[in-house]
Amino acid sequence: MSNKVFVVTGASRGVGKAILNWIKARCSEFLVIGTSRKGVNPAEFFSKARYRHGDLCSLDVTNDESVRAFFKSLKDTLGRIDVLVNNVF
Ligand SMILES: NC(=O)c1ccc[n+]([C@@H]2O[C@H](COP(=O)([O-])OP(=O)(O)OC[C@H]3O[C@@H](n4cnc5c(N)ncnc54)[C@H](OP(=O)(O)O)[C@@H]3O)[C@@H](O)[C@H]2O)c1
Repeated sequence: MSNKVFVVTGASRGVGKAILNWIKARCSEFLVIGTSRKGVNPAEFFSKARYRHGDLCSLDVTNDESVRAFFKSLKDTLGRIDVLVNNVF
């Protein structure tokens, strides 16, 4: 996997969605991953490469289990994060 990995949290609307779309349109070197509480569960999202279809990955930043599941699946499949935009805080 050679693409740099760009992650933006809270990408279903507002500022996060704008960042996601801006980067996707202009920075083809990045594999851009957006998250939302209502997204696809991380195991399926990463194992089936759902990010390539514009889907969002499930992540609730207030829930430790959700945060662990997201980063574990990302680490196991892509193995890297080059840019993390903590839009939700
Ligand atoms: N809009 C402004 O003028 C402005 C100005 C200064 C700073 N900010 C800051 O910029 C950030 C985004 O603002 P916004 O106006 O774009 O907000 P928004 O429209 O309310 O969008 C928030 C995003 O965060 C997600 N989200 C909410 N709670 C979450 C949680 N617990 N875990 C994971 N994702 C969660 C939402 O997705 P789901 O509901 O799908 O999970 C949504 O995609 C905020 O931190 C805000 O304080 C905004």
